[in-house]
Amino acid sequence: MTVEEIKDYATAFKKSMWSPVIDLLNLRGRLAIEKNQEVIDSQMPSKTATAVAHPNIAFIKYWGNINHELRIPTNGSISMNLASLETRTTVTFEESLDKDVLLLNNEPATDAAVTRVSQLLNRVREVAGIDVHASVESNNNFPTGAGIASSASAFAALALAASRAAGLNSDSDELSRLARTGSGSASRSVPGGFVEWYAGEDHETSYANSIAAPEHWDLVDCVAIVSDVHKRTGSTQGHQSADSSLLQSARVADAPRRLELCRQALLEKDFHNFAEVVELDNNLMHAVMMTSKPPLIYWQPATLAVMDAVQEWRSNGLEACYTIDAGPNVHVICTADDSQKVQEKLLKIEGVKKVLTAKPGGPAHLVG
Ligand code: DP6
Repeated sequence: MTVEEIKDYATAFKKSMWSPVIDLLNLRGRLAIEKNQEVIDSQMPSKTATAVAHPNIAFIKYWGNINHELRIPTNGSISMNLASLETRTTVTFEESLDKDVLLLNNEPATDAAVTRVSQLLNRVREVAGIDVHASVESNNNFPTGAGIASSASAFAALALAASRAAGLNSDSDELSRLARTGSGSASRSVPGGFVEWYAGEDHETSYANSIAAPEHWDLVDCVAIVSDVHKRTGSTQGHQSADSSLLQSARVADAPRRLELCRQALLEKDFHNFAEVVELDNNLMHAVMMTSKPPLIYWQPATLAVMDAVQEWRSNGLEACYTIDAGPNVHVICTADDSQKVQEKLLKIEGVKKVLTAKPGGPAHLVG
């Protein structure tokens, strides 16, 4: 071996000895760069997000606002999310769009619906500091006009998907406030299970929290569908006429007492007390509706037939009570043990077309 050959051999040997170390350093460098990219990515808007939210049924009702624009209600309310029924909404911020676009159940939405959605998106854009339009696709797995307020699940899912797509990491209270600005009852579809919406007095103090998990009480909402015709006067318009009823001030003044009774009955799973306060609160709200200017009468003959039957069943020992939103369909709330009987009995009442059922549901959540 010549001296030159020995030198070459030594250089090659040194190289091969160091190469694993060099490889390792390169790998660490690469990993560091990738890690850094991840950090940067997590700080940037992910641009698109999909969220799911459930509608809810109010046990103590929201009717009337002290601030219509922000939907700050005249009184607090308590509700239960409805599992198995859901709205799934995808929001994508796209530089190429010159306006917000909305597809509702695979159909282009009306201008009024787009405006309502854009107002919520504007709040998100302002907080996130972005100036990009969005495409929004929203689908319900339950029929519209079935007496289940789709605006609650729709705006809860929209608030979560839009915030996430804009890169915001808002907590549940903040999402509840945001959802409220789109639809008051949507503030209650953000947290899970049994939920109380604190009326508050301004944007900061008006939001909803969970008071018990879905597993807390095995209740079932059996929705007796008596009509699937779209309501003539929607709740947004109804809230604006609530103060025209002489009865609204009495209903509102007594609300803290009813909230306390309902909260207590829920936490103690006391069905008797729960049923009494739920029906009282419902009847007070409908009394206000009926005595507003113009009067809002949502009940149909079959609505009354169901209310009457439910009271009779309860006096005979069945754990069931009724509550009705701004429409003719009746939500019969019962214990899981009695739910089969309740469904069978409801279907025998003339005018009841079908019965949908739902158990307590979880919070709004991201699915993509
Ligand atoms: C009778 O939340 O539908 O269902 O804020 O205008 O969207 P907007 O009204 P909305 O009102 C719900 C009224 C109710 C009672 C309730 O759910 O508390």
